[in-house]
Amino acid sequence: MTTRQFPAGFTWGTATASYQVEGAAHADGRGLSIWDTFCATEGQIDDGSNGDVACDQYHRYLGDIALMTELGVGAYRFSVAWPRVQPQAGEPVNQAGLDHYSRLVDALLAAGIKPVVTLYHWDLPQYLEDAGGWPERQTAVRFGDYAALVARRLGDRVDTWTTLNEPWCSAYLGYAAGEHAPGRRDHAAALAAAHHLNLGHGLAVQAVRAEVGDRARTSVTLNLTQAYPATDSALDRAAADQIWRIDNDIWLKPMLEGAYDPQLWADTAQVTDWAFVRDGDLATIRQPLSVLGLNYYSPVTVRPLPGAVPAARTADCPVVRPGTEAIEVLAPTGPLTDMGWSQEPRGLTDLLVRLARTYPGLELMVTENGSAFVDTVSPDGLVHDPERVAYLAAHIEALGQALDAGAPVSGYFAWSLLDNFEWARGYTKRFGLFRTDYDTLERSWKDTARWYQALVRSNRAPESDWSSARSGQPPAV
Ligand code: FCB
Repeated sequence: MTTRQFPAGFTWGTATASYQVEGAAHADGRGLSIWDTFCATEGQIDDGSNGDVACDQYHRYLGDIALMTELGVGAYRFSVAWPRVQPQAGEPVNQAGLDHYSRLVDALLAAGIKPVVTLYHWDLPQYLEDAGGWPERQTAVRFGDYAALVARRLGDRVDTWTTLNEPWCSAYLGYAAGEHAPGRRDHAAALAAAHHLNLGHGLAVQAVRAEVGDRARTSVTLNLTQAYPATDSALDRAAADQIWRIDNDIWLKPMLEGAYDPQLWADTAQVTDWAFVRDGDLATIRQPLSVLGLNYYSPVTVRPLPGAVPAARTADCPVVRPGTEAIEVLAPTGPLTDMGWSQEPRGLTDLLVRLARTYPGLELMVTENGSAFVDTVSPDGLVHDPERVAYLAAHIEALGQALDAGAPVSGYFAWSLLDNFEWARGYTKRFGLFRTDYDTLERSWKDTARWYQALVRSNRAPESDWSSARSGQPPAV
């Protein structure tokens, strides 16, 4: 039995990020990033690990492209490591770093796989953090310069230019919650970071278009939050609306409408006066976008915090989102993934449909979606991972429902091509279609990879409860 047929020309891909897969931390003149520093700080990474070796994709990219060819995917979303391109402050561009990405792009094109490049997937050069990081305006300016260097070198060989990956995480996990590099806990700095990430996005789009021409396909990837109100009460709905502003509109409105929502500034008035927003910034931030990338894993459910707000919530910033001390994010329920995230595919449909209604005509892509589960290698040498297959199938069906509702979604990228360094969780969480053996660095097939292969080769979703453990066979292609 087969299920949904997807539109002709729909792009199926896989995604990774430089620090999570490349390894080769000292190869070809790479400089330090904030993640090198953060990993070296006692207690920040669950297993005490780092990205020094990771999946060694820096050296093994040809093998990984061969796997993608076997899968049949049409696109690969990867990121360029800024510290490989500009390793040291004030020094000339490191051609050896750019050479790597040039070879990678050529190899992808030779395999018929479209390169979808992310310019910034969190690995800020450490010297820029030492100068203040994203809360400083100068970091945005430097990001524009770096984008120009990469665009000049890779030029029109790149299919899609994505400026930032999930600025939400850079700003709030990095500068408010301290869970990600650089590990700061300062809500005012986090909002300054958010604005300068927006500004950096605008400057990077300008730089790419200046180098490649107006035909450049430009994009940004946002991890927008689908926040459901705990009940239908006005107060719960107001809490969900506030989350929408601080999580989503803070990026969407400046990038797509050239303005911040005055209510967002009111929500955060206790945190900052937004004086870092200068005349002309919003015009710079609003640049032509060919496609909006959405990363989706799980929604949240919110309501006003019952009772008074404990002082501890404001004292040392354990609250992730600035200005939301009085909002409670409920603990996730249902069968959770190994990340502790709920599995609610309807959140993906709801987000895509809302985006399509708010920004009619804007092309959308799901640039990340996937799940971590504990994997075991079976005696047959394979990983039978029915939970991951079910997650993927349910979310791809949710995407299909958004298409049915008229959302112009043109592609889907499974996170991730292979198990990799999962940030503060280290190597303890496995998101891969392929298993990475961290002792030998060998890659092996999981059932999810076989299921995805059947989907991308036929453009039709196989039945979702398929498992090679049960059938002994991969799904029919
Ligand atoms: C996203 C990140 C990606 C990966 C997944 C699980 O927030 O963009 O690098 O870690 O989560």
